[in-house]
Amino acid sequence: MNNRDTQATWKYHDGTKHSYWSIRSNPHFLDWANRPQPFKIYPKIEPLPLPRDIPPTEVSALSAISEPVPSAGDDSVPDFQDLARILYFSAGVTKQRAHPGGEIYFRAAACTGALYEIELYLVTGDLAGLDAGVYHFNPADVSLRLLRKGDFRGNLAQATAMGPAVAHAPATIICTGTYWRNAWKYQARTYRHFGWDNGTLLANMLAVSSELPSEIVLGFVDAEVNRLLDLDTRREVSLCLVPIGRTSESSLPAPREAPALGLETIPLSQREVEYPAMLEMHDASSLESVEEVAQWRGGLPLLPSSALAGKAVRLASLPEEEQPKDTIEQVILRRGSTRTFDKAASVTLAQLSTIFDCATRGLPADFLQPPGAQLNDLYLIVHSVQGLKPGAYFFRRDQTNLELLKEGEFRSEAYHLGLEQELPADACVDIFLLADLKRILERYGNRGYRAVQLEAGTIGGRIYLTAYAQRLGATGLTFFDDDVINFFSPHAKGKSAVFLLAIGKPLKRKPQDGL
Ligand SMILES: Cc1cc2nc3c(=O)[nH]c(=O)nc-3n(C[C@H](O)[C@H](O)[C@H](O)COP(=O)(O)O)c2cc1C
Repeated sequence: MNNRDTQATWKYHDGTKHSYWSIRSNPHFLDWANRPQPFKIYPKIEPLPLPRDIPPTEVSALSAISEPVPSAGDDSVPDFQDLARILYFSAGVTKQRAHPGGEIYFRAAACTGALYEIELYLVTGDLAGLDAGVYHFNPADVSLRLLRKGDFRGNLAQATAMGPAVAHAPATIICTGTYWRNAWKYQARTYRHFGWDNGTLLANMLAVSSELPSEIVLGFVDAEVNRLLDLDTRREVSLCLVPIGRTSESSLPAPREAPALGLETIPLSQREVEYPAMLEMHDASSLESVEEVAQWRGGLPLLPSSALAGKAVRLASLPEEEQPKDTIEQVILRRGSTRTFDKAASVTLAQLSTIFDCATRGLPADFLQPPGAQLNDLYLIVHSVQGLKPGAYFFRRDQTNLELLKEGEFRSEAYHLGLEQELPADACVDIFLLADLKRILERYGNRGYRAVQLEAGTIGGRIYLTAYAQRLGATGLTFFDDDVINFFSPHAKGKSAVFLLAIGKPLKRKPQDGL
């Protein structure tokens, strides 16, 4: 397969669009008896418990999300406690609820269907409190399991063509996606969800690592990283790397032999269904050699190119002294997707501006050059924002403006676009992430599809956190692809719908008599 043959992406993307008719003609139902296990379990490996009661960072959520990544210093080496904090607040279990289909363990970051298909692994040198090795993180018992003993950071550095962040990192977290765990419900659309759900998790990860250099790395030889983690790649694949910390130490170990381990894991379900469209999409977007990675990373920057829209409204964030000071850990612990919005509520323009400011400052990522570049454009349907007329808007990032595309009450349109759900109709504002896929694929090949979905998920995750930091509510949503583009056209003509998120105030239920 060839990353440059971008027909593969169009085939996958067009083949997994939702439309009014595709939803009605799909006979899929949820087979609860065959529901996949929410955790990957290695039954024969002893757990290494992560430290609990870790001191909080005490960094306010808004600055954790929006401050630039710290530049390298001598002391940018995480210890075991730092890694425990980062893993737990990215993918740990934060709530547990009984459900007719079985217990649901809700995690730190939002995830489609609460199915949690993203796994985390750690590749580290010797650190204070933790020996060098390749580990898997199990959120069920908050433990690591050692898969390979010794320092394998040289293997990762090689797989990234000596990408500077990975080559200098004392530790790197690898995020993988497990197809069946999400495809049980969402079938072939799961490959998009990999980017979304990995992205919301990355928003947390970057925010809780905000005192250490960290970034998202998509340029790596897939087969090398998958082999290091001993993945069965028909079931689970590496999605991105996040180097944590930085060391100037020049003696990175040479790559080591990483033979197949064949480690036993508990099957997810009695039966699994394979969706070839996703395996093809993954293969087509895989990078096959170190030379290909170096070339991919070194391509030309992608500059914004959206047509001017209508009248502009300037965004202005909450003044510093009025910004909420809750720590990033407090905000992550109280986050939970809003299940019903209060239709009568409104948010202020300053609250919305703060969300845009924090969420779109630019992600640290090897594919976003120059720093601050962004692949997705943000479009809005405003229902109830003080100081803004209801209507459809385009966020012009370089001017910090919202440009009016059309004025009007669009609650029933939002209901339809968000797959005929009440949530986008009752919210105060719906934020759609759209991208010019054609330009992105020309620049990045099929790998650009992974990049655009991952970036959207991460911005979405930042929007969640910034909303909850301000005690607002939010939820990710899915959508009717082409109807979204038609709604925002002619401005959005030629773009593709990537992500949707609604913001508002959760409906407070009235206390019932006798309760
Ligand atoms: C990208 C994305 C899309 C989502 N789509 C929907 C949706 O269409 N409808 C819905 O009710 N919830 C949706 N959700 C919310 C998830 O169901 C929710 O995140 C999950 O149940 C975990 O719960 P929590 O976010 O409260 O931790 C979505 C979440 C994400 C991240």
